[in-house]
Amino acid sequence: MDFLKTRYTPMNRRRRIYEGKAKVLYEGPEPGTLIQHFKDDATAFNAKKHEVIDGKGVLNNRISEYIFQNLNDIGVPTHFIRRLNMREQLIREVEIIPLEVVVRNVAAGSLAKRLGLEEGTQLPRSIIEFYYKNDALDDPMVSEEHITAFGWANPQEIDDIMALAIRVNDFLSGLFLGAGIRLVDFKMETGRIWEGDMMRIVVADEISPDSCRLWDVKSADKLDKDRFRRDMGGLVEAYQEVARRLGILGEAENVTAGGPRLVQP
Ligand code: TMP
Repeated sequence: MDFLKTRYTPMNRRRRIYEGKAKVLYEGPEPGTLIQHFKDDATAFNAKKHEVIDGKGVLNNRISEYIFQNLNDIGVPTHFIRRLNMREQLIREVEIIPLEVVVRNVAAGSLAKRLGLEEGTQLPRSIIEFYYKNDALDDPMVSEEHITAFGWANPQEIDDIMALAIRVNDFLSGLFLGAGIRLVDFKMETGRIWEGDMMRIVVADEISPDSCRLWDVKSADKLDKDRFRRDMGGLVEAYQEVARRLGILGEAENVTAGGPRLVQP
């Protein structure tokens, strides 16, 4: 994974805390805060497939900001504080729970494959799945038994995570439907925050077309990272369409490099 080391040397003295496949975390301006930087890197199949897609990071920063700000506003706690610039947002530092929480409304991807379902089949109800976040193991699916036995989260925390996942799913389904988009499935991550003696679980990481399956309601066109996973092309155009429909991007806003740009903090 050479690309994790090469292109993102910070230009100032900010301390880099962590670099992942699509984002970098830097030390924040105050204790308990971090800066989350969105890169243009796209990876799939645990980074066996990798490409730099000009403009993706800017779009995901904006789309994720919009979703997390709305979640905060309806009382679903998240790590998000505010966007700082085109590629960065200020977040609260959390202790990441090492689980990928996937919520599915429609059969697609690995579920369709595993159970032999036709992609696009409406599921009898929303289904929550857990995957253990571990690149070396390719993020294997795990059950609540594994999660509690290995101490990744306790039963109360699993209940809290599932309640959050359902609220996020309900909110996102409605948000996207209003924009003519079907929320097929999505992945979210959670983390622990301590406030004195109190611990709270909040939604963390990002929610963007990188981590959701989004299909146009009418045409079933894919407006998400499957365009990259399945070599369909047009990824930035699709993400731009999602942003446009959510009313996030003005028509004239340029997300790709080249030429001076207006930065609106
Ligand atoms: P899957 O069908 O491949 O299991 O993916 C389910 C959802 O989770 C889909 O919206 C894509 C998202 N996802 C991620 O965000 N990161 C991942 O590493 C994987 C495998 C899926």
